[in-house]
Amino acid sequence: MIDVLGSIALDLVMTCTTLPRVGETVLTDSYRLAPGGKGANQALAARRAGAEVRFVGSVGQDDFANRALTNLEAAGIGLDCVARTLAPTGCATVCVDAYGENQIVVASGANLLTRAEQMAGLGDAGDVLLLQLEISPEQNWQAIEFGGQAVKVLNAAPYAPIPAAALSALDVLIVNELEAEMLSENHGFGETAPVAIARAAAERFGLTCIVTLGAEGAVSWHAGGGYRAPALPLDAKDTVGAGDAFVGAYCAALADGHEHALCLRRAIVSGSLTCAFPGAQEGIPDALSIDGLLDEVAVETF
Ligand code: RIB
Repeated sequence: MIDVLGSIALDLVMTCTTLPRVGETVLTDSYRLAPGGKGANQALAARRAGAEVRFVGSVGQDDFANRALTNLEAAGIGLDCVARTLAPTGCATVCVDAYGENQIVVASGANLLTRAEQMAGLGDAGDVLLLQLEISPEQNWQAIEFGGQAVKVLNAAPYAPIPAAALSALDVLIVNELEAEMLSENHGFGETAPVAIARAAAERFGLTCIVTLGAEGAVSWHAGGGYRAPALPLDAKDTVGAGDAFVGAYCAALADGHEHALCLRRAIVSGSLTCAFPGAQEGIPDALSIDGLLDEVAVETF
């Protein structure tokens, strides 16, 4: 069982030829509303990858709430600990350019009212506790503290300063290249290369650290050794949610008891496949699709 404490939102998605620069207005034909939010996306990715999942978060009492919850409900994710608050459901404007690159602004809304105490409603803790930083960081630090025996995974996105005590209590930290640089600055690692940052974080805080590198795949440091895995060479149509698909599939494999290299391979396939489809949630692959491409991903250890 994976428990995800995190954000949920409705994405307002616009596809543009180029992303607007500061002060620039760009035109596009249309837009669409699609379920999103890093917490919800990761919960769905873990579920589609084969895990039992419970989601803990907050929505409003508006129409956006039902739309944002649609895919989680349909996938059979436990939603008993989702609070219906008076704040509006979170909403993100997501602009995607012709190369699949994106620019996102998140209006947090109800996500800022999510509290770690909501997890008490779950009863027993799951095997894996998965967190991100789109709810108040303090609530995440509390959840880590009260997480019991669960394997604790933090996707530090978007980056916010992480206290050393929280890092020491984590089992797995997942960041992208930019977040890795901020982590390195935040904790004075004096490193700039992703693999060196992963190693510094892993050694200082006694955890597994994974740095995702977009089209380049991911590097990580785990149990005293380095791992590098390339992404699948697919045409990226939309990179929104690729990191979430990676994180969710990694946790699903972890909850299944697999060792790090296999978790990484499953995560790479899930993240890569998601880029081949538009939207954060539509393209998240199921376990069968992940199995089908698993042999295409080789992990180099060093
Ligand atoms: O990681 C992608 C997600 O970030 C989008 O779904 C959007 O809601 C933002 O939270």
